[in-house]
Amino acid sequence: MNVVMIGSGYVGLVSGACFAEFGAHVTCVDVDRKKIDQLNAGGIPIYEPGLDDLVKRNVAAGRLAFTTDYDPAIGEADLIFIAVGTPTRRGDGYADLVYVYEAAKQIAQHLSGYTVIVDKSTVPVGTARQVKRIISEANPDADFDVASNPEFLREGAAISDFMRPDRVVLGVESERAEQLLRELYRPINLIEAPIMVTDLESAELIKYASNAFLATKISFINEISVLCEQVGADVHAVAKGMGLDGRIGRKFLHAGPGYGGSCFPKDTTALIRIAQEHGASCRIVEAATEVNAAQKARMVKKIREALGGSEAGKTIAVLGLTFKPETDDMRDSPSLAIIPNLVDKGATIQAHDPQGMEEAKKLLPSQVEYCDDIYDTVNGADAVVLMTEWNAYRGLDFDRLKERMNSNVFIDLRNVYEPETMRSKGFAYTCIGRD
Ligand SMILES: NC(=O)c1ccc[n+]([C@@H]2O[C@H](COP(=O)([O-])OP(=O)(O)OC[C@H]3O[C@@H](n4cnc5c(N)ncnc54)[C@H](O)[C@@H]3O)[C@@H](O)[C@H]2O)c1
Repeated sequence: MNVVMIGSGYVGLVSGACFAEFGAHVTCVDVDRKKIDQLNAGGIPIYEPGLDDLVKRNVAAGRLAFTTDYDPAIGEADLIFIAVGTPTRRGDGYADLVYVYEAAKQIAQHLSGYTVIVDKSTVPVGTARQVKRIISEANPDADFDVASNPEFLREGAAISDFMRPDRVVLGVESERAEQLLRELYRPINLIEAPIMVTDLESAELIKYASNAFLATKISFINEISVLCEQVGADVHAVAKGMGLDGRIGRKFLHAGPGYGGSCFPKDTTALIRIAQEHGASCRIVEAATEVNAAQKARMVKKIREALGGSEAGKTIAVLGLTFKPETDDMRDSPSLAIIPNLVDKGATIQAHDPQGMEEAKKLLPSQVEYCDDIYDTVNGADAVVLMTEWNAYRGLDFDRLKERMNSNVFIDLRNVYEPETMRSKGFAYTCIGRD
């Protein structure tokens, strides 16, 4: 089976490599020449555990190739996946579909024989039909179907999520398209992962509804964490007690600095816009986004209070910059909301991240200093802020920290450590929703 993946980012590259691993012949197409050159030279443009080996193995086996050219790969394809970015459109919060529509126009010019064109990007309801219209207008003779196959992988665990998904959602309009997609996903079916077949609109909405629900779960526990601090409850215990209820589940119930990343912020905003456009309300998701913004602002206040009321003139060591561990993705990371605030108020920031520093340098204020070594980061610091729960920060050498720090303030925005233990080790310890 010949597969083309349009867009070789976090989703396109992982999906393309995984389909190749399943046995398909995959060509990844991207307009970013630098990215394609790097891939053709054996490099991997993103950090994703296990991706390096997977890509190398499939390139060596002749099943995976990279190009900037739509031609001839499109003409030979049975299935074409669109996995380009759908960022928030500036000004109105709607998902920006320019990259999807541009890909559709390019695809239309090179189609040959029956082909299924599949939206893998997260796109508003109606986009698959819009793609169909664009292609039909540009190439009236084209023999094709459109389909929607939203992706649910998590960065940092993308390969296992793709290979062993909770479900695969296929939005289709024809039996022929369904059969081709089922054939491609056969290895997943063999491990009995459910393949759910539905209409285009439902498939498109399943993705937004899922992300909005997970974001709401995080905002819910973050709001409960504020109440915990007021009443003297422990948010860990509350979340555990809730999560043991099978109807609730324990995942996405970790209080923290607010959700970030390349999906939740933009997808919640887009869902609100989709609902508005169709005259429906989306009040729960609106509240989840407001609570999330408030949580990030609350983190700045928490840091200020831990520093005795002012960040001015203080040195703050920030451990972790990416929106979560095991990725180099900085998109909408809470650190991007929190650090500029601290810098504005006159704090000196010394930062460390195992994978995100290169990207962070482009996005954070130029005054931020970056350190390659965790313990150099805390040199002369008045406070340590644990921002992202990388494994490297889970077993810190506290004696070394104290030796290098100027003070003993430790602000744990991920509740990695136990308050009692930290206080017994001599830290003025602050965390989220527990004392
Ligand atoms: N990142 C995630 O964890 C994740 C998970 C599930 C779904 N998604 C969705 O998948 C989509 C892609 O996300 P991503 O994180 O992989 O984005 P990304 O920015 O990492 O990658 C997008 C790629 O598309 C390329 N591109 C843009 N226009 C193109 C064109 N016309 N032709 C060929 N290539 C083009 C860009 O150069 C870029 O390399 C988004 O809709 C996103 O919401 C992302």
